[in-house]
Amino acid sequence: ENDILSNLPLRGKKVLITAGPTYEAIDPVRFIGNHSSGKMGYELAAAAYRAGAEVTLISGPTHLQNPIEGIQLIRVHSAQEMYEAAIEHFDSMDAAIAAAAVSDYRPKHLASQKIKKADENLNMELERTPDVLASLGKRKKHQVLVGFALETENEHENALGKLDRKNLDFIVLNSLNDKGAGFKSETNKISILYRNGKRSDFGLKSKKEVAGDILNELIELMNE
Ligand code: CTP
Ligand code: CA
Repeated sequence: ENDILSNLPLRGKKVLITAGPTYEAIDPVRFIGNHSSGKMGYELAAAAYRAGAEVTLISGPTHLQNPIEGIQLIRVHSAQEMYEAAIEHFDSMDAAIAAAAVSDYRPKHLASQKIKKADENLNMELERTPDVLASLGKRKKHQVLVGFALETENEHENALGKLDRKNLDFIVLNSLNDKGAGFKSETNKISILYRNGKRSDFGLKSKKEVAGDILNELIELMNE
């Protein structure tokens, strides 16, 4: 299918990918989560593997199977667990792609028993979770680092802010403007933004095809 992927351009390279949502526990039976399916990250892992890379996929809770047996799949639940797994593996990697939809906040206190219904209103204090990608950006040495951004306003400006703050090589902006693009859908429409101001816009495609486009950009950068 894709010429540049067919001759194993990532042979000998190690690629880390985060995928899926995170679940932040409230009590023994409840959590804060989101609708991320994990599909984009799993397709990226499969594409990197097909390109010859040794792939470590750190995944939050999803219904997806490991796409390829040879991929090292590490299942986690919370942002904290994803952070610890990512930090443990990052230093030995050549590239990392953060496709996970990490919860930005978690309950400050985990209730040890199921919270009982009481008053009309319930307030719950939340605290920030670790930013997995920003932490990798701080540790980055030789690695190529890629993030995603999902924005509903000022999308390019906000994505460029994340590119800079998290010390990324490029950022994939997921467009919500078109029908059929986003969290639960089978398709995505992306733009890739680079540090030098360059920007590539892609059409509406299957997540598998989008993964191929992102991998092509990664391969180009890694071969520079
Ligand atoms: N990300 C992460 N850890 C977090 C939050 C985000 O690794 N705790 C990563 C995501 O995987 C994604 C990128 O950071 O690659 C951007 O995520 P996004 O939610 O768009 O940005 P935030 O920095 O969380 O900012 P905000 O949600 O306020 O827009
Ligand atoms: Ca966020």
